[in-house]
Amino acid sequence: VAGELGNKLGWEIYAVGGFVRDILLGRPNLDLDLVVEGDGIFFAKELVKKLGGRVKAHNKFKTAVVILENGQRVDVATARLEYYEYPAALPTVELSSIKMDLYRRDFTVNALALRLNPDRFGQLVDFFGAERDIRNKTIRVLHSLSFVEDPTRILRAIRFERRFDFQIGGQTMRLVKNALNLKLFSKLSGTRVMHELQLIVSEEDPLACLNRMQELGIMEAIHPLLKLHKERIQVLIELAKVHNWYKLLYLEQSVEPWKLYFLGMTMGIKNTQIKQVTDRFHFTQREEREFLQLREMIHEALIQLMSWREGKSKLSRLYSILHPLPVEGVLFLMGKSRKEHIRRNISQYLARLRDMEIEITGNDLHELGIEPGPIYSTILEKIMAAKIDGQVETKK
Ligand code: CTP
Repeated sequence: VAGELGNKLGWEIYAVGGFVRDILLGRPNLDLDLVVEGDGIFFAKELVKKLGGRVKAHNKFKTAVVILENGQRVDVATARLEYYEYPAALPTVELSSIKMDLYRRDFTVNALALRLNPDRFGQLVDFFGAERDIRNKTIRVLHSLSFVEDPTRILRAIRFERRFDFQIGGQTMRLVKNALNLKLFSKLSGTRVMHELQLIVSEEDPLACLNRMQELGIMEAIHPLLKLHKERIQVLIELAKVHNWYKLLYLEQSVEPWKLYFLGMTMGIKNTQIKQVTDRFHFTQREEREFLQLREMIHEALIQLMSWREGKSKLSRLYSILHPLPVEGVLFLMGKSRKEHIRRNISQYLARLRDMEIEITGNDLHELGIEPGPIYSTILEKIMAAKIDGQVETKK
């Protein structure tokens, strides 16, 4: 449909980027990015007239997001013809705009396009040897200033390298090291670094990326306090294990990987210094407060867990130690704890106790003639504790 519409408007339409890369790699990818050699916003609006859905346009960037009725998102960008003025009497050269669009991208493997107009539908447009690089499993930049223009691409290179089991090419690796020597990371905005780190820990195998980052000294380049020393790597390995285990439980409450891994990455940093890190990442005051609170709660829970004895202490006590924590905090404690029985009991808590419910509600208490007040939560907590310890049975 997009290609036919392109023909009608007299514009070339391409699918680009990760979508095309993943077709060649045989991997599923539902994020469709289109480039229009014409007016992307106009094209998006026409597309929606045909297919239904809605358009969000960003006039400043000449881009639009189409959200089709089935929820599918399509990003539409505009590639304009650019004229290069050569000095003196040489003529102005018109470069194909799709080529310029692709040249601005990060790596060859992402600089592929697929023509969608019906006459040459499915034709691969590969100006920079992307197909060869995919065959050779290589991540390669398109030009030597790529990392200077945008140092977050170093983190992207690592992410793609580990995700696809590729290798960063020799020259590209020299450029990575050069960018690190130039301390380009220290100038990078905290928000952007954090976004990239969030993407990394959301990968299937974050640890592979984190190990690579350690090898290249990237975390300390972001901030000296973040160096991935042995002890942190050890805990991150355990966090990755518990995170994978938790995913297999398919519980309703999902984990925000960033919260979990960030606890690991900042482990051992003193309270007096942690602000340096949250400032580096431009945490808002609220984010900072919540993160400090979480660290504090974990610290408290850790102390209480030390006195919890399997067989001797009640399960309901374990419940009351862990229940106030968000799930990321509980997983962190499970990963960090070296005591096997503590880990086992935390896993029991997550798998069985955390979502446990009791049948009795405040209404029942009211019907029994008890005056509403804080006593309600005390009673309900006691009933919950009795249920956890197996002293009462309720239907649920
Ligand atoms: N891009 C870039 N430099 C960046 C970020 C993105 O050149 N710092 C380009 C890439 O060429 C990429 C495109 O913008 O193909 C879209 O970015 P994104 O959606 O992040 O990339 P995907 O390749 O789709 O990544 P993923 O598979 O992780 O979604």
